Amino acid sequence: MEMEYPHSGIRIDSTLTEQEKWYFDLHGFLVLRQAVSPEDLKELQDIVHGWLGSKPDLMPVPVTLNHLEHGAVIQHPQYGHSAFERLAQHPPILRILMGLMWNRPRLFISGIQVQKKRPADRDAVMHKDHSGFEFPPGFRNPHNDYQASGGKIYCNFVNASIALADVPPNMGFACVPGSHKSEVKCPSTIKMMDDDSPAITFPLNAGDCIIFSPNLIHGAKPWGADHDRITVFNRYQFSFYFNENSGYPIETHRDKISEEQYELESVGVEEKSVVHRLLEAL
Ligand SMILES: [Fe+2]
Repeated sequence: MEMEYPHSGIRIDSTLTEQEKWYFDLHGFLVLRQAVSPEDLKELQDIVHGWLGSKPDLMPVPVTLNHLEHGAVIQHPQYGHSAFERLAQHPPILRILMGLMWNRPRLFISGIQVQKKRPADRDAVMHKDHSGFEFPPGFRNPHNDYQASGGKIYCNFVNASIALADVPPNMGFACVPGSHKSEVKCPSTIKMMDDDSPAITFPLNAGDCIIFSPNLIHGAKPWGADHDRITVFNRYQFSFYFNENSGYPIETHRDKISEEQYELESVGVEEKSVVHRLLEAL
């Protein structure tokens, strides 16, 4: 049943199933298998491969391509091709985000990471995301908060990580399940690559999506496959209070995204059009 807080207009029913709520509260992540259709996946892959073969100064502005020692980073892809805008609004993923932040997600940064095969770093560490100031253990970072009460979840920073290439076992995204609620700092003696490390990885097929709280202790295990790791990271925050310095929406390139995408990237308290449409369809 739908309820509203008096005067706020905030609908607090959840678009998550009871099983999804229980699982996310317990683990801090959900894995959506085949979140992206084969046709959409092929289009996204083709665009990325085209960009990777391009010279950085020939990228469609404001999309940027930076080649790194072990891969590449492409920023703001939704301003370069509408397929990435559709991915940011993709209903199976957006539904989960809505359920985690009271139907008010705001896309505040989008990028694509490409990682090549590289040797394992036995000293690789894990982290919780923050915006430049690490809150002491036991204190909640308001920009990366997690709460559950009365059968509802409020997770105001969520990362939707979409695999555009298969992820074999024991590489790629790694996290310690349940650590989004931990109030004790992870000891520096615990390393991600230890044989008894509490970090788990996720074998994925291209098109699968991991939705996770960056308040989880997480990192990435070294990529050991012959093919590149290609991942889209779409980061969302609760739309009203938070305005991270991502520069979204990019005003000078507003004409390269739709009005609905512009709204999705903007700070605001009202339910956005893409959210409203999905709520009506559920
Ligand atoms: Fe991170």
